[in-house]
Amino acid sequence: MFRPRPERASAVPAQAGITVAVEGRTVRVPAGASAAAAMLAAGWRSFRETPVSGAARGPWCMIGLCFDCLAEIDGVPNRQSCMVTARPGMQIRRQRGARNIEPAR
Ligand code: FES
Repeated sequence: MFRPRPERASAVPAQAGITVAVEGRTVRVPAGASAAAAMLAAGWRSFRETPVSGAARGPWCMIGLCFDCLAEIDGVPNRQSCMVTARPGMQIRRQRGARNIEPAR
């Protein structure tokens, strides 16, 4: 579904951009790219599975509407990865399972 624009198809030069870790693999992305863009650049198309049916989900809207891009970012699950700007050293992982929500006290 998503492809790099032709002028961006080549890898980000080593001196440009930032590096993040996606599922433990170092990926270089342009500064200002979203965490979802970093995951796409790393080759991931499915970011999570639905908790009920296990159906694969990946980014669809890239503007914060569909919630299909949920991922674990720096240890925090259920982040909308398309709405999070990648930072150097960020740890991005696929979302695993349903979120465990603590009841309000
Ligand atoms: S891709 Fe739709 S909310 Fe992130």
